[in-house]
Amino acid sequence: MTNPPGMTVLFDQKAIAARVHELGQQISKDYQGQRLTLIGVLKGSFIFLADLVRSISLPVEVEFIGVSSYEGTVSSGEVRITNDLTVELKDRHVLLVEDIVDTGTTIDFLINTLQVRKPSSVKIACLLSKPETQIMSHRLDYVGFEISKEFVVGYGLDLDGQFRGLPEIMQMKP
Ligand code: IMP
Repeated sequence: MTNPPGMTVLFDQKAIAARVHELGQQISKDYQGQRLTLIGVLKGSFIFLADLVRSISLPVEVEFIGVSSYEGTVSSGEVRITNDLTVELKDRHVLLVEDIVDTGTTIDFLINTLQVRKPSSVKIACLLSKPETQIMSHRLDYVGFEISKEFVVGYGLDLDGQFRGLPEIMQMKP
């Protein structure tokens, strides 16, 4: 397939699959003997979550939460829940699954919102992290790859709804 104009491949399918598998193995080890609920942050995490859940060798439950904060390539800084969970979190071990953590505003908001529901624990797994732009107060527990602040698309990540289906993670040329 030809690359969309103005984009270069940052991580190809092989590199993504290998790293997601490693994360799944680490999570399986860390949560052994526990009941784990994965919460995918819509929409960008749906492909990462689908691959991650198949790399975890434990019985897990899967939920989704919808949030929205971005317009184009810029965060509005204001997070809204657009789809809520269908289960209560009381006494569950929760792993939030996020595609990418940029400023961390979304993750901070989600952790604070979910902690009110009294889960046993809440941790964060993200495929991509942009350390340069982070202003968050929570720590990331499982990180696939650290990247620079350039905007990326593919493997679930979009630009105004486009490019989610690209199998690679592609970087917009600065
Ligand atoms: P944060 O609240 O600034 O951490 O932004 C997190 C959310 O912004 C992610 O869940 C994505 O939806 C979106 N986002 C941030 N950076 C990118 C990017 O480079 N490509 C696509 N979406 C991004």
